[in-house]
Amino acid sequence: MKSALCFLLLLAPVSASAEDGAKLFTPCRACHSLDPAEQGLPGPNLSDLIGRTVGSAEGFDYSPALRKANADGLRWDAQRLDRFLNDPAEMFPGLWMSIRGIEDAGDRGALVRFLSDPASR
Ligand code: HEC
Repeated sequence: MKSALCFLLLLAPVSASAEDGAKLFTPCRACHSLDPAEQGLPGPNLSDLIGRTVGSAEGFDYSPALRKANADGLRWDAQRLDRFLNDPAEMFPGLWMSIRGIEDAGDRGALVRFLSDPASR
């Protein structure tokens, strides 16, 4: 039964799902939590990211780059997050988060959906 299911999954067209989003977020968990109660990681809490002002996680000490974006009133929406994940340092030169961007648009979309929708977690 289980192997039949795997076989079907292999035949299915490659499409990014919520599960992929969770998988893509795995390396981010080294620095970010989605649990609002979890503090003290190297990166800001991302529990309520979409809709909030850039650089606004309570108690987090942001770089000047994100403090400026905060002062300018930039907000996280799906499009901005997608562009950010493509090349974080390009959007915010001087960013204190040195990860490579995610080049695959489908992967980025899955990750954005995962971060946008608490129900999918
Ligand atoms: C090595 C640690 C580390 C990893 C891994 C990491 N980040 Fe970050 N992230 C940070 C830090 C530190 C900041 C704050 C940067 C600053 O102040 O310039 C940040 C900021 C962010 C922000 C802006 C948050 C806000 O409050 O405005 C988002 C969104 C984000 N990261 C998403 C991700 C995603 C998605 C991944 C995985 C693909 C990821 N990060 C991986 C350390 C990390």
